[in-house]
Amino acid sequence: MTKPKVFVTRIIPDKGLDMVREFCDVDLWTEELPPSREELLRRVQGVDGILSLLTDYIDGEVMDTAGEQLKVISNHAVGFDNIDIHAATARKIPVGNTPDVLTDATADFAFTLMMSAGRRILEADRYVREGKWKTWSPMLLLGTEMRGSTLGLVGFGRIGKAMARRAVGFDMRVIYYDPGESKPDPDIKASRVDFESILEESDFISLHTPLTPDTRHLIDSEALSKMKPTAVLVNTSRGPVVDLDALYDALKEKRIFAAGLDVTEPEPLPTDHPLLTLDNVVVMPHIASASKVARDKMSWMAAKNLISGLKGDHLPNCVNPQVYK
Ligand code: DGY
Repeated sequence: MTKPKVFVTRIIPDKGLDMVREFCDVDLWTEELPPSREELLRRVQGVDGILSLLTDYIDGEVMDTAGEQLKVISNHAVGFDNIDIHAATARKIPVGNTPDVLTDATADFAFTLMMSAGRRILEADRYVREGKWKTWSPMLLLGTEMRGSTLGLVGFGRIGKAMARRAVGFDMRVIYYDPGESKPDPDIKASRVDFESILEESDFISLHTPLTPDTRHLIDSEALSKMKPTAVLVNTSRGPVVDLDALYDALKEKRIFAAGLDVTEPEPLPTDHPLLTLDNVVVMPHIASASKVARDKMSWMAAKNLISGLKGDHLPNCVNPQVYK
């Protein structure tokens, strides 16, 4: 029996890749960098499925170039702003993503960033390495304490709620803003507030919202101007949710205390970006979900979505279930 043809746009953990290899005829992109647009368009021709990463822009042109036999697009990420969902739905192509399995890894990392930025961990490490540590000093590298502080969550989905659960252990007060339908969880002590209150009342603000036209530059100069001068901003969602020029000004002028960014606009952030001249920002290369466990499970889930779509079954995690109506 001939196997369905798929294009996998990067090497993913064996857990998922082995499943895909068993069921499909795989064209695997093995380079470190993503395929160029031309290469992507060339490689998708005639495939039945695409397993993509958040670095691949999958729009109507890619779908049409693949051809009418294209049955499924499976994104190896929970976020799917790299895929034109309207275009996929219009062509009745289900799109899969990988929710849940990276929730804890991402929440752990957002907490790590809150504490690293708040307690100036990387700045202190540089201080030691640069030979500046002369003695213990009462005023050296003072930072922000978690206990008794207010954590403001923007987005109260799976990861936002995981943040709130962690905050309980740190004796923090938790408030959240979520424009969507997210249901309050009776087991989580957190109060729903408006966006203004998040900005004005939070000591730590952590972003857990998808990137949409409404959330692009949600944190702009106006939003930053409403934050406390002691506030720490953390972004593990998508880079464009924060206007980096405005953030740079706010950090440089010490209008907020610090920031921890796992995501930036653009990615990668150029090494000569002005933000990287500042001590009060921690910048990571989009690794919040990068635990071994989470990445294995993401690859497994992406493989499940891909194979289900190829078989004509409903995807276990489909972001455009309208295609089944
Ligand atoms: C996602 O899955 O959307 C993260 O940004 C990468 O794991």
